[in-house]
Amino acid sequence: MRIAVIGGDGTGPEVVAEGLKVLAQASKKAGFQYTLTDFNVGGERYLSAGGDPTKPSIPVISDAEIAELRKFDAIYLGAVGHPKIAPGILEKGLLLRLRFELDQYINLRPVRLYPGVESPLRDKKPEDIDFVVVRENTEGIYTGMGGVQYKGMAAEVSTQLNCTTRFGAERAIRYAFDLCRRRNNKKHRLTLVHKTNVLTFAGGTWFDAFQAVGKEYPEIEKDYNHVDACCMWFVKNPEHYDVIVTDNLFGDIITDLAAVIQGGLGVAAGGNINPAGVSMYEPMGGSAPKYTGLNVINPIAAIAALGMLLRETGRKLGDEKAMRGGELVEQAVVSVTPKMKTQSAGKMGFSTTQIGDMVAQAI
Ligand code: IPM
Ligand code: MN
Repeated sequence: MRIAVIGGDGTGPEVVAEGLKVLAQASKKAGFQYTLTDFNVGGERYLSAGGDPTKPSIPVISDAEIAELRKFDAIYLGAVGHPKIAPGILEKGLLLRLRFELDQYINLRPVRLYPGVESPLRDKKPEDIDFVVVRENTEGIYTGMGGVQYKGMAAEVSTQLNCTTRFGAERAIRYAFDLCRRRNNKKHRLTLVHKTNVLTFAGGTWFDAFQAVGKEYPEIEKDYNHVDACCMWFVKNPEHYDVIVTDNLFGDIITDLAAVIQGGLGVAAGGNINPAGVSMYEPMGGSAPKYTGLNVINPIAAIAALGMLLRETGRKLGDEKAMRGGELVEQAVVSVTPKMKTQSAGKMGFSTTQIGDMVAQAI
């Protein structure tokens, strides 16, 4: 397995180092092979290459680098974000660009309350918070379609289009049904989340696609929630959910709420997936500049993302040993979280590197 590594900015490289420590151990134990190739990309590189921090001026990642990334089986990303760079430059220039150009049309977010992790939801146990959000990752309001006219004038007008295609909705929905089948959770339920009562056009496309594709999965219960109600149920009855499929923006929002109920950004991992191409796995937390270099950041999310990388890439390549390695990582994480005081940076009872050692040791 060829893995491209983008440590990125802030604490990104620190958490990635712990993930790679765990990777080495998993490979020894499960017997799969891998290579690592470092890519120096991120806010720091943008600035040192002379990038303007106030507006996009040079590419954050070059065409040549993207072409190079296409040759890998997976990308392992730490974090990209810089306090001196205006919002939007790195997001559009790197993260969204990679999602679009590598056609990573699924954003996969397992939401699992690990044992010993405190959820802000009183009385909710690990068995109550265990679901997966499948977020469409290349369409919706994220495409950048639309524009602004009369900028800075009283007449300023802007449009931001929600680009929804039947093709895009269908492939996300099919992925989610397949995942639901694979998960074989006793609920066997796929919930579509949208806002069909107001967004009747885009919502209609999603809803129709859901009904049509759903016919191919008779054993799976088809469930629907409006996105606002879904937020309420996340807090009230998270045990209702098995797999959720939703549009790009709704998915962005509900997965942050989901991260909080599963114990915070220290534990939340995600994948930007092209099932037939190059996928990218990352901890959901940002670059956390104020914790950089202090050995206090929580590496659990990055380690869990590594586990996901192994399971998903292993399946794509038909590499069962790598899939097994991914399972071992997840099990090791589950055995370490109960030993930690909290999941917050600086309050874990252990340092970043100690947590990495503990997970590697558990493998
Ligand atoms: C995420 C992030 C990104 C998004 C930002 C950084 C562009 O919030 O991965 O959820 O909105 O998709
Ligand atoms: Mn987000």
